[in-house]
Amino acid sequence: MSKIKIAILGAGSMGSGIAQVTSQAGHEVVLADTNDEQLDKAKSKLSKIMDRLVEKERVTAEESQAIQNRISYTKDINDFAGSGLVIEAIVENLEIKKTVFGQFETIVDENCVLATNTSSLSVASIAAACKNAERVIGIHFFNPAPLMPLVEIIPAVQTSDEVAKNARALIDSWKKVTVLAKDTPGFIVNRVARPFYGEALRIYEEGVADFATIDWAMTELGGFRMGPFTLMDYIGNDVNYTVTETVFAAFYYDPRYKPSFTQKRHSEAGWYGRKSGRGYYDYSEGAKMPEPNKDEALGKKILNRILVMLINEAVDAVFLNIATPEDVDLAMTKGVNYPKGLLAWADEIGLEKVLADLEHLHAEYGEDRYRPSVLLRKMVRENKKFFELA
Ligand SMILES: NC(=O)c1ccc[n+]([C@@H]2O[C@H](COP(=O)([O-])OP(=O)(O)OC[C@H]3O[C@@H](n4cnc5c(N)ncnc54)[C@H](O)[C@@H]3O)[C@@H](O)[C@H]2O)c1
Repeated sequence: MSKIKIAILGAGSMGSGIAQVTSQAGHEVVLADTNDEQLDKAKSKLSKIMDRLVEKERVTAEESQAIQNRISYTKDINDFAGSGLVIEAIVENLEIKKTVFGQFETIVDENCVLATNTSSLSVASIAAACKNAERVIGIHFFNPAPLMPLVEIIPAVQTSDEVAKNARALIDSWKKVTVLAKDTPGFIVNRVARPFYGEALRIYEEGVADFATIDWAMTELGGFRMGPFTLMDYIGNDVNYTVTETVFAAFYYDPRYKPSFTQKRHSEAGWYGRKSGRGYYDYSEGAKMPEPNKDEALGKKILNRILVMLINEAVDAVFLNIATPEDVDLAMTKGVNYPKGLLAWADEIGLEKVLADLEHLHAEYGEDRYRPSVLLRKMVRENKKFFELA
């Protein structure tokens, strides 16, 4: 069976990475953008990446050439004709996305699947722009797409089961790790990860510890690859703040997702993080990183508070059928490199202890933010675990 042609709209960070993934999987790829410069940048970036892969003997020189030759770059989306799958990765704006989805339908034939890489918009609202909404689906890659194994597959309420099943099988065949997520704000990763930032900011705001100490607790004691403040500086406080605000509004202002003034002020000050030379830390030349307070008891308290909030979020995602326990754990380990799946971690700590810690926070603060998930209570009552040991 010959491989389908894949069309990608948007040659920015995500679109260019997805073009590499799909071409490496052997597909003929058309990468389109309205901006010539972006197309040139995508092409030269890929050429540099392929040179490095050849140097490291990960691909041969011939394979590198073939991968680059399979991608054509264009400003004309009429070149999408004949594609079996279109992946849209343009600006995160609903009206613009709806317009291009309407255009896709006039160019491709009726069997072509139309996918969006949106991080925060509802797939249902994008699908609603199409006459045949059954073929529209969310296919959410992580940045950088060639390196991050996870892809969230998000069928909209309109998507047919067959389209969802085939899309997942196709992406599995690219050796990606796929998880199935309900079309709800943040899907899995961007929902479950909120407390990693939000609770860390809250701990800082209460004066419990400074940025460096919280980061130290999460990396040294928790095994996370980056601490929350280092990670927010890496993502950009402007970007991370906007995602938090969007998720908060999308959840009808559930206090669990409340944004932080500290992050807002950092963003307003232009202290975005690495890209602006200053965020929570100073990245200018010669600047010294602050030393953490390596008090073990304090560090454990910080780690535990953030961790139980993350676990509560993961449990609630399962409770609300956003995804299966297996997929929630896969999403966090393969999409954002968590050292362990949160639900497996909960089993290890003991669900009773997680619940007791959350109840303690809830009683102490009297805030809805700390309410334990109903599923957590139920599982403790029934003496259950998420994963039975083999
Ligand atoms: N950056 C991330 O970490 C990340 C991760 C997952 C998903 N996403 C999502 O992927 C999408 C793209 O994000 P990105 O970071 O690659 O953005 P980006 O700004 O790097 O690239 C967007 C590209 O789309 C092009 N574009 C804009 N409007 C267009 C149009 N009407 N027709 C054709 N091209 C158009 C721009 O010229 C630009 O090259 C967004 O929906 C975003 O939410 C981003």
